[in-house]
Amino acid sequence: MIAPSILSADFARLGEEAEAVSNADWLHVDVMDAHFVPNLTLGLPVVESLRRATDLPLDCHLMIDDPDHWAPRYAEVGAANVTFHVEAAHDPVATARAIRAAGALAGLSVKPGTPLEPYLEILREFDTLLVMTVEPGFGGQSFMPEVLPKVRLARNEVRAGHLRLFVEVDGGIAPETIAAAAEAGADVFVAGSAVYGAEDPGKAIEALRVTARAAMARS
Ligand code: DX5
Ligand code: ZN
Repeated sequence: MIAPSILSADFARLGEEAEAVSNADWLHVDVMDAHFVPNLTLGLPVVESLRRATDLPLDCHLMIDDPDHWAPRYAEVGAANVTFHVEAAHDPVATARAIRAAGALAGLSVKPGTPLEPYLEILREFDTLLVMTVEPGFGGQSFMPEVLPKVRLARNEVRAGHLRLFVEVDGGIAPETIAAAAEAGADVFVAGSAVYGAEDPGKAIEALRVTARAAMARS
């Protein structure tokens, strides 16, 4: 699945920008609070409005402190998937259960420097694992191939039947990097600048999808 990130879109025209990527699978919505990351974006009211402006499932990526309190609210306003950071959460399992109880998929995200092994057990409570392939906070950064072993580990756990979740990658995903992520086992690809920086965002999505499919078939 391809999930364009509206972080790279024109925030004054979000409805039209969502329409421009109607061939996407999810619409990725980066929520930043200027505390967990050094950048500020948008919150619940914007997600609520986006929900009415598009039929695309909203993939909310919360880069915020106190996700235990806030994450279920994003499910309540209609997000399809709500992902929060394990580094910020006090009780990730209770938060995942609250998100699911509010009707959304629950996602857990790890920054590049956060190992996955300590969380393999609790990931049974989640639908999505978001492996950050850049330091969270900004679009347009370079892909970090050194985090791909975490994608491989997660994919192996899924193949072995220990976990059942989407393995999502976020940061620096572009035509030149998506194959490596797909070969490692990712199946959801967030792309901000590679989609919204393209002449034709719809065509950019299709090109990414074709490249990812070919790489998956090879692996
Ligand atoms: C970064 C965000 C990403 C960002 C990706 O903290 O989580 O979703 O939009 O942007 P690109 O694809 O430009 O790296
Ligand atoms: Zn993101």
